[in-house]
Amino acid sequence: MHIFTGTAQEWDHKAALEIVQQIKDKPDTVLGLATGSTPVNMYRRLIEMHRAGQVSFSKVKTFNLDEYVGIPREHPCSYYYFMQENLFSDIDIPPESVSLPDGNAPDLEEECRRYEKKIADSGGIDLQVLGIGHNGHIGFNEPNTPFESVTGIVDLTQSTIKANSRFFESEDQVPRQAVSMGIKTIMHARKIILLAKGADKADIIQKALQGPITPEVPASVLQLHPNLLVFLDNEAAARL
Ligand code: F6R
Repeated sequence: MHIFTGTAQEWDHKAALEIVQQIKDKPDTVLGLATGSTPVNMYRRLIEMHRAGQVSFSKVKTFNLDEYVGIPREHPCSYYYFMQENLFSDIDIPPESVSLPDGNAPDLEEECRRYEKKIADSGGIDLQVLGIGHNGHIGFNEPNTPFESVTGIVDLTQSTIKANSRFFESEDQVPRQAVSMGIKTIMHARKIILLAKGADKADIIQKALQGPITPEVPASVLQLHPNLLVFLDNEAAARL
């Protein structure tokens, strides 16, 4: 495990450079992507680097970690919409090269199998970007999800519903379920970048990186990953 700390701006830049280097080394890289507040400025840096001619996403494929069940793609809180707004519409990635789970599929179980197979058929994820929930979730794999889980339908915990209600008009409107890559799916990525910012993540970062490896803290499984880079701002690193 390599841990980089610094100001939030420093790590936005460093993490974006890591992705750019990955794409330079392998132009047809398969990227796993996260939504949420944490990666937004890093995505901005990627857009700037793309505009400056430093990186092309024309051969890249992406798979997002997760999507809510039951809200339309066009809804401003859908992860599809988030990715268009925060990255895809400002880079040269072909629309057919981006994948998110379809949270409106008529048969969600079948959709989970399809998504898992599509990732495998692409050759697997080269570089996975992750944020971390206050309860240690990665993707939407909430505490006590088995480490062997693959893409599936998950029930969001009350704490996640509350945390994510900041993006919705009210807590009632937050979907109760999502489709998420599983922990095993995530761990199969050849390289993982875990990102965290802010004092409110300091406790869970300490537990995840230095505590016991247990499904009670899903992100603790990352300690077992052979190629993990962690980018923390000084506040999130405060308890290490
Ligand atoms: C997002 C995702 C989540 C977030 C986590 C942190 O696709 O899978 O695990 O990474 O909830 O969210 P933020 O960055 O908003 O604190």
